Amino acid sequence: MATALFMPIKVGTSLLSHRVVHSPMTRLRADSEHAPSPLMAEYYEQRASEGGLIIVEGTFINEENGIFPFAPGIYNDKQIEAWKVVTKAVHNKGGIIYLQLCHPGRAAPSIFIPGKRAPVSSSAISINGKNAIGATYDVPRALEVEEISKISQAFAQAAKNSISAGFDGVEIHGSNGFLIDQFINTSSNTRTDQYGGSIENRTRFALEVVESVTKAIGDDRTGIRLSPWSGYQDMKDDTPYKTWGYISSKIQERYPKMAYLHFIEPRDDYISGPNPGVDRMKIIENDTIEPFRKAWKGPFITSGGYTTTPKRAFETAEQSNNILVSFGRSFVANPDLVLRLKNDWPLNKYDRSTFYGGDSTGYTDYSFYKSDTDNDITN
Ligand SMILES: Cc1cc2nc3c(=O)[nH]c(=O)nc-3n(C[C@H](O)[C@H](O)[C@H](O)COP(=O)(O)O)c2cc1C
Repeated sequence: MATALFMPIKVGTSLLSHRVVHSPMTRLRADSEHAPSPLMAEYYEQRASEGGLIIVEGTFINEENGIFPFAPGIYNDKQIEAWKVVTKAVHNKGGIIYLQLCHPGRAAPSIFIPGKRAPVSSSAISINGKNAIGATYDVPRALEVEEISKISQAFAQAAKNSISAGFDGVEIHGSNGFLIDQFINTSSNTRTDQYGGSIENRTRFALEVVESVTKAIGDDRTGIRLSPWSGYQDMKDDTPYKTWGYISSKIQERYPKMAYLHFIEPRDDYISGPNPGVDRMKIIENDTIEPFRKAWKGPFITSGGYTTTPKRAFETAEQSNNILVSFGRSFVANPDLVLRLKNDWPLNKYDRSTFYGGDSTGYTDYSFYKSDTDNDITN
């Protein structure tokens, strides 16, 4: 039976032959100079499929705002050359490959910032709790207005570098509590200038980045990822439907040819534990990204939780002809996820302990399907 999940769809300049998308996932396996390693080329090649879209992990647009050890960058020639190996490997298998562009803002520990300067953000509000290295989060410095447009330009330059490296397009990381999200949410933005206060002001930076990137490489090579209910890194907004509804409708109005919008579902559960101030269960029961999909007429990627309920991906794709579904953890553990879903083969388990950093273990050594595989999906 033909299922919508395996129907072709045009995304920007690329014609996909199915709608199973690889979610961007940071794995910290670049080299010490933040250039992608041959192991990364192997990982993405394994997961590439004919006409399938891979969105590559959060990649840093510059180093001056902090870059995590072994995270990749796209700001110098060495990195661009190394990315060419990755994009070529995916293209050789007929795959389509986008790069997620990230500025960490206040999430970057100052120890990773040249001169150990404070990280930057929309406002001088730190994240509660402990950061990736087990220390208290630094209090960020609120960006000056003149600095903000320079960051949009850095996104544009990173987008141009991505195209030079052979990517088919880029995804602007506007989700999960990184810099763009820090401007959007009321919990992290208390500015009183043109970048704070009203929805129009808090979303200004996100839309300026979209403007710069689309101008640099074209609307049809640009996507953006957004997460109205992420909660991660203390994100919380007073009016999620209005805020992200505004962004979606502005993008529809100004950039109808953009490659895609990528929304994270409220029930996304990949980071365990509730977030401060967020009643997760209530959100999961009551909220939906459907209004954002309806505001946008182009390709719409939905993400989050399909790993634990893969069958739902088939049902979701049936709901409208512009839907694609992205998978995170199940792509970690299943290099041949597309075939497994298509053939209803069982999925390998993922191992959380090897998500971040290390070698090929838990990265490129997950098995391809063999009929005697006896695994299922729990961690
Ligand atoms: C190891 C790991 C790293 C991740 N890194 C990123 C990232 O770099 N950028 C991003 O937008 N989301 C990131 N995510 C979130 C995933 O893209 C996805 O939204 C999440 O895993 C939920 O989807 P799933 O239920 O299919 O796993 C990461 C998730 C995991 C498990």
